[in-house]
Amino acid sequence: MWGGRFAAGPASVMREINASIPFDKRLWKQDIAGSKAHVAMLGAQGIVSAQDAATIAAGLDQVAAEYENEGVPVNLDLEDIHMVTESRLAELIGPVAGRLHTARSRNDQVATDFRLWVRDAIDDVAAGLVALQSALLTRAEQHVTDVMPGFTHLQSAQPVTLGHHLMAYHAMIGRDRSRFADARARMNECPLGAAALAGTGFPIDRQMTAAALGFDRPTANSLDSVSDRDFALDYLMAATQCSLHLSRLAEEFVIWASQPFAFVTLPDAYSTGSSIMPQKRNPDAAELVRGHAGRIAGCMTALVVTMKGLPLAYSKDMQDDKPPVFEAHDLLALSIAAMTGMIETVTFRTDRMRALAESGYATATDLADWLVREADVPFREAHHITGRAVKLAEDRGVSLAALPLGDLQAIDARITDSVHAVLTVDASVASRRSYGGTAPDQIRARIADARAQEQGA
Ligand code: ARG
Repeated sequence: MWGGRFAAGPASVMREINASIPFDKRLWKQDIAGSKAHVAMLGAQGIVSAQDAATIAAGLDQVAAEYENEGVPVNLDLEDIHMVTESRLAELIGPVAGRLHTARSRNDQVATDFRLWVRDAIDDVAAGLVALQSALLTRAEQHVTDVMPGFTHLQSAQPVTLGHHLMAYHAMIGRDRSRFADARARMNECPLGAAALAGTGFPIDRQMTAAALGFDRPTANSLDSVSDRDFALDYLMAATQCSLHLSRLAEEFVIWASQPFAFVTLPDAYSTGSSIMPQKRNPDAAELVRGHAGRIAGCMTALVVTMKGLPLAYSKDMQDDKPPVFEAHDLLALSIAAMTGMIETVTFRTDRMRALAESGYATATDLADWLVREADVPFREAHHITGRAVKLAEDRGVSLAALPLGDLQAIDARITDSVHAVLTVDASVASRRSYGGTAPDQIRARIADARAQEQGA
């Protein structure tokens, strides 16, 4: 395609390092779509004849049909998807194929193809995240009143409800969706027509190609158009953040599935056995979601480092933009699907959660709050009094609620019988009615908000 000024062909190692077709064949649909939009515009503008434009468009359809049925042939000599397609087009329709590349360069071509691909990837992820949120909502709704220990430092802190805990992940995934939506809106400008870097002298219509490919408008600067990979980085950064959320949930499942916790039984379908220990039920899917988050962050880092310090406009380093994006997307899509499946089918052992919530002095804050409210004790003093009550209960191996009134009054005479009403875990969660708090009424209201937002979206 470019051999005119060369006397010798590439070394075999050059052919190998130079070729991107082994991975960029994944862009074939976008490449055909970009070429069809381009040639339709060339025809409309009279840059190629209407007849040639029609021949080329039909030829591109034929190439696409071949790719669909037989896959994309990997020919390292032809370097990349753009040349593989153009070369096959020439075999099918003859020399007129050579008119397709008028007023275009592979630099704006690949920038366009890759944007289209990332845009599709975002739509794919967005659909997966909607399904994950819907699974979280369903499960949260089932467990609005089921009490579990809430943790800080992984130490029993205050009782919360399982519905509240699940809705925390719903909120995180909501922000992830909005990050992907932002990235999509920002990237939706068409670089096609920037040509190699400087634009073109042909009377092209960039509005027409942008509209045909579903972009909001053409990009405004041809140098930026062929050298910008922000859109891929935006995707990778959103993917990294999303995978962090999935990984934290995965980590909780791993902990919760352990025997000392036993908060969940992960479904058989998402667990594996051990080849030596017959009793084992390993949370492999959750562990791999956690592991994939590390790889996705690695993909993000790879492209960050590739782009750092590249001068304008296009450099071949940028060919390395695609593998990390493809890899991150595959890993993220799998992680979202696996996590959705686990959320839908996990068994929550709510009896066990309740028992643990009741055993960890998680209502100590409620006792301190009671002293502030009912006996007008300053909070710091109430904290101290409660600490002594916890110590006594601990020494006796009983819960706070099980301490007889007389013993509490020996610690502080202002304590009365009504304190027992706030020492149960149910009373504790029911009392936390502040907006966004763990009271079942609050959770129900937040679930209703989320459903209404989904209807409106
Ligand atoms: N395969 C190349 C890539 O992915 C296409 C652009 C090649 N442009 C060039 N001037 N060599 O980046």
